[in-house]
Amino acid sequence: AFIVGKECNGCKYTVCVDVCPVDAFHEAEKFLVINPDTCISCSVCAPECPVDAIYDEFDLPIKQISYLEINRNFSSLYPVISASKATMVFRK
Ligand code: F3S
Repeated sequence: AFIVGKECNGCKYTVCVDVCPVDAFHEAEKFLVINPDTCISCSVCAPECPVDAIYDEFDLPIKQISYLEINRNFSSLYPVISASKATMVFRK
């Protein structure tokens, strides 16, 4: 599965969502996560992110290892987001 890392926090560009063929993204308050059970590892989302926040789980930097759990746990807490919206960057 692919994982949304800390770079997304406070950004939420959400352009990743538009290319996901399986609606694997969920929207938390400050960042998005990917449901690892939904993700088919197609990899199309990763190059779309302007801040390179999306990682293959096997390439996740060691400092961000906690995001494996965060993506899984937050996926069950927050709703699916299936269309992009205004980024938080311009709302700060
Ligand atoms: Fe976040 Fe990048 Fe998507 S900032 S919302 S992972 S395009």
